[in-house]
Amino acid sequence: MATVAHEILSHIYSRIVSPQVKELRKYTAFSNNVYGELLPTFVSRIFKELELSSHQVFFDLGSGVGNCVLQAALETGCESYGCEIMENAAELADKQAVEFQERLKLWGIKAGSVTLITGDFLKIEEIGEILKKTNLVLVNNYAFDAELNGNLVNMFLDLREGTKIVSLKSFVPPGHNITAHNVESPINLLKVDEREFFTGSVSWTDAPGKYYISTIDRSRITKFLNSQE
Ligand SMILES: C[S@@+](CC[C@H](N)C(=O)[O-])C[C@H]1O[C@@H](n2cnc3c(N)ncnc32)[C@H](O)[C@@H]1O
Repeated sequence: MATVAHEILSHIYSRIVSPQVKELRKYTAFSNNVYGELLPTFVSRIFKELELSSHQVFFDLGSGVGNCVLQAALETGCESYGCEIMENAAELADKQAVEFQERLKLWGIKAGSVTLITGDFLKIEEIGEILKKTNLVLVNNYAFDAELNGNLVNMFLDLREGTKIVSLKSFVPPGHNITAHNVESPINLLKVDEREFFTGSVSWTDAPGKYYISTIDRSRITKFLNSQE
């Protein structure tokens, strides 16, 4: 399925996004809105590794032009959500979603539902509700500052046990251990596994790099607290 899915997504992207690529580059340099994309082969690998399936929910926080949202719905049949703050990227995402439905009809293919939300994911209440039922969260936070990454971790407090979060920067500093001083910190919810992506996985460099799979795991906090009794 991945090959047909990539073909369909690439047609949609060429028609809707490619002619507007200059617009996408109009972000403030070194801001949280620096634009870059995870490429379809890498995204397929993430879905496969984390076994995203048709009865599950996917959420891309900072979904840009909606590529990963559409890909999740098409490749896995899951319920797929995205939220994007930049108007021009969000408009392209909406246009891609319309073209997506037309292409699906043409190919006679069914996909999961797609919901694209425009605005700040930190401020939209509905997102907290959707996150409660989400199985896989994607955050391409490579260019996010420490404050935004910290605010995201606070949003993860409501996620269910076992929910996976894929990110390009870890939310947990290397060597972090739970101690009496930091036991209240929300980063203790996250069990982090570092992985490597290959060359050609992201739009901003050809170089290989690292990505992180965090799992919501409250058992380590419980274990620590029990050990203190
Ligand atoms: C690097 S792009 C990732 C696009 C897409 N998820 C991908 O990986 O291909 C990150 C996006 O997050 C968006 N973003 C940053 N802060 C946000 C916020 N508070 N609410 C919604 N979107 C945000 C940026 O505008 C940018 O488009």
